[in-house]
Amino acid sequence: MAKISIIGAGNVGASLAQRLVEKSLGDIVLLDIVDGLPQGKALDILQSTPITGASSRITGTSSYQETANSDVVVITSGASRKPGMTRDELLQTNVNIITRVTRSATEHSPGCIIIMVTNPVDAMTYLALKVSGLAPSRVMGLSGVLDSARFASFIAAELKVPAAEVSAWVLGEHGQSMVVIPRLASVNGKPITKLLSQEAINRLASRTVNGGAEIVGLLKAGSAFYAPSAAAASMVEAIVLDKKETMPCAAHLQGEYGISDVVIGVPVRLGREGIEQIVELELSQEERAALVNSAEAVRELISTMVPG
Ligand code: LAC
Repeated sequence: MAKISIIGAGNVGASLAQRLVEKSLGDIVLLDIVDGLPQGKALDILQSTPITGASSRITGTSSYQETANSDVVVITSGASRKPGMTRDELLQTNVNIITRVTRSATEHSPGCIIIMVTNPVDAMTYLALKVSGLAPSRVMGLSGVLDSARFASFIAAELKVPAAEVSAWVLGEHGQSMVVIPRLASVNGKPITKLLSQEAINRLASRTVNGGAEIVGLLKAGSAFYAPSAAAASMVEAIVLDKKETMPCAAHLQGEYGISDVVIGVPVRLGREGIEQIVELELSQEERAALVNSAEAVRELISTMVPG
């Protein structure tokens, strides 16, 4: 069985642990510095396994030693947004946390694959790449799977069709310069540009860009975790089951889409080795320009990070 460590036992980390255990995707270590929190949540999830029939084991810990030799490390630690905050405002607090977490995690699991969840996720993924010294194929961030799911769920609700019939691609930064591509969204293969008015498409695209903030505003304390944990679980699944599935993730580009040395959301093929290929979609000039513009926004943010 694969060994999967989740750093941070808050809402996203714990929900992800539950999802991975219920899918029996591997043995799970849930780590948090708050003593008792990961141990208590892990024990609770463990006690659900005779009911759910899951075969995964799960332990909670505050010690990185127990994460040793993980195949996948998912990092969810750090501050999350309060109402009215942008993801970027979390930058320096999370630079310090993610630097420490990445060092500790990779010291014990030098061959792991890292999935970053902490915001601002594109910059944090870049940071983890630099701090870990891992190959770019082994460090990625959670972005497009979540953003595409949000767009798809809004399309499904608008057209009153099952969400599973909707396919959507959202690329770029997991932030305000996110690139929603309506041309590539479809319902049972039919482009939404033929099913929805321009007004409706614009409204749903804008709701997608602000999808996380809408939930932060409603919850008032904390940010979204059901859809983020579902998205992270699907990335873990593609890796540990070597599914070779193409999904949009935050990845380090080295010339693809004409963009270099920055992390941004693009379609990638995920398998046992992590990012096995960066998939270059055929984009219109306008879409490509939006992606380049988004990459520059992330590059700008990265340039303001003070080493932690
Ligand atoms: C959100 C957080 C995960 O979009 O960024 O809800």
